[in-house]
Amino acid sequence: MAKLDIVGVGPGLADYVTPAARKAVEKADLVIGAQRSLALFCEVKGEQVVLTAKNLQDTLKKAAEAIKADKNVALLSTGDPGFSGLLHTVLESGLFNTNNIQVVPGVSAIQACAARLNISWDTAILFTFHEGKISEEQKNKLGSAVQYGQNILLLPDQKSFTPKDIATFLLKKGVNPKTPVYICENITLENEKITQNTLEGVASQSFGSLCVMVIKQTSR
Ligand SMILES: C[S@@+](CC[C@H](N)C(=O)[O-])C[C@H]1O[C@@H](n2cnc3c(N)ncnc32)[C@H](O)[C@@H]1O
Repeated sequence: MAKLDIVGVGPGLADYVTPAARKAVEKADLVIGAQRSLALFCEVKGEQVVLTAKNLQDTLKKAAEAIKADKNVALLSTGDPGFSGLLHTVLESGLFNTNNIQVVPGVSAIQACAARLNISWDTAILFTFHEGKISEEQKNKLGSAVQYGQNILLLPDQKSFTPKDIATFLLKKGVNPKTPVYICENITLENEKITQNTLEGVASQSFGSLCVMVIKQTSR
């Protein structure tokens, strides 16, 4: 039976693309992904479709039709598909039978940052505010976790909840302005930049779109 492989392609550097991801792409009749994800694969035999925010729904429909026609589809998702990735989008679309979906895990940007900063992420709290996942409840959960002194790894939203907005929100909640923060930009890429800062420092600066914000309060 044809499958939709939702393939995690890692944080950006080709070294972090797993052999399992390469195999899924090799066997696919149709390979769908953002330009920067497709560029990680030198030899793609199947048809390629560049995924954009505008063509997302039409492309998912095309993928569903391809599967009905017994063609294997690889849908590339940056990092890991299950962390603020395309798994959620696919499940929500209702276009696919879950028996036809297979997730190929990838290295999340969150994991890559934890590794860079020697954070044991089993005790860290993970948040994503990416693409509008910003409710008052989520923001308040973040505030409580920071006040509780936990390590936080989070994906900001470049439009509506940037690192600057997050720092400003936490300061308003009464969090210590000297709380240590790391901003990890373009992790694993040539222009990788990790900046050590404080909440009050981040509240007055802007950062690039490919970034993870880390609030590191314990040595673990
Ligand atoms: C749609 S989310 C995808 C997250 C992905 N599924 C993961 O597990 O890493 C995209 C966000 O992930 C973060 N991100 C992805 N790659 C990154 C990298 N190389 N360096 C820093 N942040 C990255 C950025 O916050 C970006 O806006």
